[in-house]
Amino acid sequence: MKPKKSIAPPLSVPPHIIKSRAAVPAAHRLDIEAILIPPSRIQRRVSELAHIISADYRGKEFVIIALLNGTVMFLADLVRRMEFPLQFDLMGVSSYRGGTSSGDLEFTRPLKLDIRGRHVLLVDDILDTGKTLRAVSAELASLGAASVRTCVLLDKPAGRVGEFTADYVGFVVPHLFVVGYGLDHDEKYRNLPFVGVLKEEVYQAVR
Ligand code: IMP
Ligand code: MG
Repeated sequence: MKPKKSIAPPLSVPPHIIKSRAAVPAAHRLDIEAILIPPSRIQRRVSELAHIISADYRGKEFVIIALLNGTVMFLADLVRRMEFPLQFDLMGVSSYRGGTSSGDLEFTRPLKLDIRGRHVLLVDDILDTGKTLRAVSAELASLGAASVRTCVLLDKPAGRVGEFTADYVGFVVPHLFVVGYGLDHDEKYRNLPFVGVLKEEVYQAVR
C-alpha cells in the first residue's frame, strides 16, 4: 500500500537548533538539554494548523477528540483559533507508564460525546510508534464516526513501528525525548512554554 501523505505538510526542526543551549531558562538547565521549539514558533504553527483544519471542516458535523493529558496546551490554543462552531471531548489513554517504555494501551476516560455520523479529528501531542493513534482511531471508527483524521503537534518518524501517517502535523522532531507545552516525563515538565529536549540522564534514571 502506498504511504498516505499528510494534508498539512510538517515543518522539520533543523538539527542545529538543538545545539542552542543558551536559551534554556536557568531554572530548567539541570533537566533540559536544549530548546527545540520556542513558544513563538509553536504559536505560529498552531495558527497555521487551525487555519488549514478550519478550511477542511467548515460546514461539516465536526468534533475534536483529544487525548489526555499531553494535549491540554495544544488543544486550548488550537480550538481558540478555529472560527466556526465545534465541539470537543477528551479521552484518557495511557500507554507510557512512568518512564519512556510503552506498556499496554489502557482507556482511562471514555468519551462522553456521541460521535456517530460525525467527522472526528483525533488530536494527540506526539506521534511516536503509532500504537496509540492506530488503536484510538480504530476505537473511534467502531463508535460510528463518519470519518477519523489525526492531528499531532509533533511527529517523531524514527520511532515508528509499522506504518502510520498523521493527517495534520505541527513539527517533525528528531529521535529524542522531548517535553514541555503539555508533553511530560513522569508527569513533569508539562508547564514549560517551549518544547525542549530532556537530558538523557533524567529519563535513564526512571527507565
Ligand atoms: P506512540 O503510541 O508510541 O505513538 O506514543 C504516543 C505517546 O507516547 C504520546 O501520546 C506521548 O504520551 C508518549 N511519547 C512518545 N514520545 C514522547 C516524547 O518524546 N516525549 C513525551 N512523550 C512521548
Ligand atoms: Mg500522551
